[in-house]
Amino acid sequence: MTTHVITGAGSGIGAAVSRRLAERGDELWLLARDAGRAKELEQRFPGARTIVGDLALPEKLSWALGHQALPERVDSLLHIAGVVELGPVGELTPKVWNQQLAVNLVAPAELTRLLLPQLRHTRGQVVFVNSGAGLRANGQWAGYAASKHGLKALADALRAEERGNGLRVTSVYPGRTATPMQVKVHQQEGEEYDPARWADPESVAATLLTALDLPRDAEITDLSVRPGS
Ligand SMILES: NC(=O)c1ccc[n+]([C@@H]2O[C@H](COP(=O)([O-])OP(=O)(O)OC[C@H]3O[C@@H](n4cnc5c(N)ncnc54)[C@H](OP(=O)(O)O)[C@@H]3O)[C@@H](O)[C@H]2O)c1
Repeated sequence: MTTHVITGAGSGIGAAVSRRLAERGDELWLLARDAGRAKELEQRFPGARTIVGDLALPEKLSWALGHQALPERVDSLLHIAGVVELGPVGELTPKVWNQQLAVNLVAPAELTRLLLPQLRHTRGQVVFVNSGAGLRANGQWAGYAASKHGLKALADALRAEERGNGLRVTSVYPGRTATPMQVKVHQQEGEEYDPARWADPESVAATLLTALDLPRDAEITDLSVRPGS
């Protein structure tokens, strides 16, 4: 049985990935921010196990994970959760910076650290859902783009460090995707939202699964997926 630990399973891209993996009978351990959210995920994905941990508080993840059941083997760790807050550098407060850096960068690093023994045991895979903003930073996007540029650095360093242990590390860089996050981005930009203009989360999920299902003789390190025309 293939076992995946997934963040962000309750919405958007993470929900699409989790549904596809559940449908094929894989074992899912879904990280939820609190017990109420965990219950919702258990109802939505029957048979899935949950882990409670708030990614906005990465310094508490070690204690939280130390006090609940964890999978004995982890074939893949899928970092999909994320948050976005737009604004010019002149107006971004430390609180806004810290929240995005915590959820988008420090928590994925900490969760990876905590699950590395299980990942090394299976010679598993870590997938980071990054963003086009992890490769280019536009105006208004400093906080989010910095967190995603950092996430690319985390993935690249982890790949170099863990190659000898047989781990594969993949960064996926979606363009704009029709999810609740994109609704929020449009609100912050003051633009009208038309989901038909953006990539379907199912297409991004298919991209991620391509990297996951690649035979073990090869590794997809970086994969960009943009809205089609
Ligand atoms: N949508 C896009 O256009 C787009 C483009 C490029 C990259 N991305 C990236 O793709 C990933 C998925 O985004 P999405 O569009 O699917 O977003 P989404 O629909 O807003 O879902 C975000 C997920 O992250 C979880 N999350 C947020 N803060 C959390 C916390 N403190 N603790 C635990 N979980 C937390 C949310 O949990 P709750 O349900 O409990 O809030 C939710 O499940 C993100 O990393 C995002 O940066 C998205």
